[in-house]
Amino acid sequence: MQIQLPYFDIILARLESGDPEFVEAFHRHVHFGAYFGNESPAEAMEQLTQLLIDLAEIQPGEAVLDVGCGFGGTLMSLKEQFPANALTGLNIDPRQLEVARRRCPGVDFVQGDACAMPFPDASFDRVLAVECIFHFPSRRAFFEHARRVLRPGGNLTLCDFVVPEGTPPGSYDHTTEMLWGRHTAIEIPEYRALAAEVDLQLTASEDISPQVLPSYDFLGGLLGRYLPVAGEVTRLSKFFMEMGGIGYSLLRFDL
Ligand SMILES: C[S@@+](CC[C@H](N)C(=O)[O-])C[C@H]1O[C@@H](n2cnc3c(N)ncnc32)[C@H](O)[C@@H]1O
Repeated sequence: MQIQLPYFDIILARLESGDPEFVEAFHRHVHFGAYFGNESPAEAMEQLTQLLIDLAEIQPGEAVLDVGCGFGGTLMSLKEQFPANALTGLNIDPRQLEVARRRCPGVDFVQGDACAMPFPDASFDRVLAVECIFHFPSRRAFFEHARRVLRPGGNLTLCDFVVPEGTPPGSYDHTTEMLWGRHTAIEIPEYRALAAEVDLQLTASEDISPQVLPSYDFLGGLLGRYLPVAGEVTRLSKFFMEMGGIGYSLLRFDL
């Protein structure tokens, strides 16, 4: 199945051609960075990954599923910190999985949809979803599956774009489609309600919008060379975030 993600088409093509800027930036992660100083984009992406790993409180020996795993960057970071943990990556895009398998041996990479996960009930202690849930056809279906595959005491930890309470549904979604593909955003109270419906509890929510904001300039500049609309989309999105119209949060849900 070929998912429509214009930004990934560019990144895959540039990596294939050996473009050093793309190789340096995306040798692990494909997500926003968390900037605290003058880090490189790749360092900032690693820092965001670490914030999420810390929030999930992963323990040695636990089985971890990374949904929407991209090139396997989060799992690479986890493998360095938890070499004995069973690590699984799920992605809908076989092209990305091919790269992930090359880069990250010793991890089980599986092709599939986050909303129809091909795993038995209660098979993971932690489920991570790093900057990908806004692409899924249904947050509700994903939450049902995450809940189903989690073991008692487990948690689902993710990062996502969130809108302030009272934002008309769908108002953000269409501005970004031509660069980011399907991209939806919901409010934190909607997340709390959604989690409760599937017997999960929102236990942490941390707004890191100021830290991720520099990511727009970097991504817009790089992707804009190959898709001119990327510059416009990222400028608009950055403006939305600066004005408080959209935020970026780390969220944890416990079973
Ligand atoms: C912004 S990237 C993040 C990749 C990775 N988590 C990272 O942080 O490097 C979004 C990812 O979500 C994946 N994705 C989109 N829709 C999906 C779905 N329905 N099921 C599984 N993965 C999906 C994409 O293929 C892509 O790898």
